[in-house]
Amino acid sequence: MSSNCSEVSLVPFDRNFLERSFLWLNDPEIRFLTDTPAVTREAQEAWFAGLPARDDYAVWGVLAEDEPVGVCGIKHIDDGEGEYFGYIGEKAYWGRGVGRRMMALTEGKARERGLRRLCLTVLHANERALGLYGKCGYHNVRSDEKYTYMSKSVMIPYCSLKEITALHADEIHEAVDRVVDSGWYLQGMENKRFEQEYADYIGTKYCVGVANGLDALIWIIRAYLEMGVMQKGDEVIVPANTYIASILAITENGLTPVLVEPDIETLEIDDRLIEDAITPRTKAVMIVHLYGRCAYTDKIGDICRNHGLKLIEDNAQAHGCRFKSGKRTGSLGDAAGHSFYPGKNLGAFGDGGAVTTDDEELAKVVRTLANYGSSKKYVFDYCGRNSRLDEIQAAILSAKLKHLDEDNELRRQVARYYLEHIDNPAITLPQVPDWNANVFHIFPVLCERRDDLQQYLKDNGVQTLIHYPIPPHKQKCYADWNGWSFPVSERIHREELSLPFSPALTADEIRTVVDLLNRWK
Ligand SMILES: Cc1ncc(COP(=O)(O)O)c(C=O)c1O
Repeated sequence: MSSNCSEVSLVPFDRNFLERSFLWLNDPEIRFLTDTPAVTREAQEAWFAGLPARDDYAVWGVLAEDEPVGVCGIKHIDDGEGEYFGYIGEKAYWGRGVGRRMMALTEGKARERGLRRLCLTVLHANERALGLYGKCGYHNVRSDEKYTYMSKSVMIPYCSLKEITALHADEIHEAVDRVVDSGWYLQGMENKRFEQEYADYIGTKYCVGVANGLDALIWIIRAYLEMGVMQKGDEVIVPANTYIASILAITENGLTPVLVEPDIETLEIDDRLIEDAITPRTKAVMIVHLYGRCAYTDKIGDICRNHGLKLIEDNAQAHGCRFKSGKRTGSLGDAAGHSFYPGKNLGAFGDGGAVTTDDEELAKVVRTLANYGSSKKYVFDYCGRNSRLDEIQAAILSAKLKHLDEDNELRRQVARYYLEHIDNPAITLPQVPDWNANVFHIFPVLCERRDDLQQYLKDNGVQTLIHYPIPPHKQKCYADWNGWSFPVSERIHREELSLPFSPALTADEIRTVVDLLNRWK
């Protein structure tokens, strides 16, 4: 939650306000009385100025962000039912019906115009009217003797990268300028610095910057192939409900993924099922810290040690997360792949990734593979690829890394609010036994009528996502697996809904989401 989240810009309900108001509402249910003699600006002003303080009507000015979009009133209020009158720009209108309908019209229009928040400046509202606005999701921002100022988010994005960037914009601009001015754009000081800082942060000896998270995972397995630790045809155990990249990294290298169901309580790989999936060809377990939650368990560590398996972490979604020992994800196994895709907790301004490890040889081979297979200019040890992290991304990541813990703490505040306030038996919330072990990259809820819920939220201006609608074994790219059955994974893919989530969500937006969820039947 940003610190100024409950502040709204307010324009007094006065001459200036009326002058700046303009016509935009053209719903057929609102009749405009264009030939009414009262429609001069002076008459409007006189009309509003002459309204006595009474308790059987309310008048409000409607602001969308900073733009006034109209003034309107409700008369003879009876549980929100009433007769509406008002002026929008030069035109007067009246209507009859339920207050909520009026609100919904206004909000729909605001959304169509891409506006995020509506503010009401309410004059002479009686308790009933204020109650009505409350039921419509408007929250009292402040009151003075004359007006009550209320606000509601009418369009809530799943995650606004623009607002996340704004949290640290000065430092990001400074980092970009530094690289632009340096004249050095690849394999320079920025990469060196970021790699050192990120290795220190994660708690590993080495970090190698690469082009993206998928490549990070591909290079780890390819390096094990080059080092003779793995052979083509070997098996890697991996959760069945992960993002496709974890599995692509295995098949891309000619190894076989062995899918293991997740635990429905944690949504992470079920450690009780891993041992049964081990065969003589198993060479590694890849755990995925999905949704920002630590997937590592002592049992997984023991299994890998006892069976001589490599433990690979896919840490694309859990930057900054800690296991109960205090160690961060990305330092719990033999090697970890990280993605800095823009929407990640530590996001670049384009693609980016890294491998972290304590294994000096692995780090060296990964660095070489990601640089055309070359460790010395124009000398090629492997058939590698160009998969390097740009200097500009490294500089931005360094700037953002300084704030990662504080951004993750904001994420936890949002998660706490959701967990404490969402109260709907049809919606299953994530369990959080250890707050350090979750950095809430995503806030996943489960709901049997997930698609209905998503549509309802969309109709009310709330954007959500599904992570992920189709499980990997049902994808066309793995057609041979389409007949396989993983009921727990399939249930997650059928029921999962990701609520709006970012460190930049405002208190108003979070409350609106909660109110909507609690009212959903
Ligand atoms: C779990 C997981 N693994 C790997 C990746 C791949 O990262 P990238 O998009 O940077 O290639 C992602 C990215 O979305 C991911 O969520």
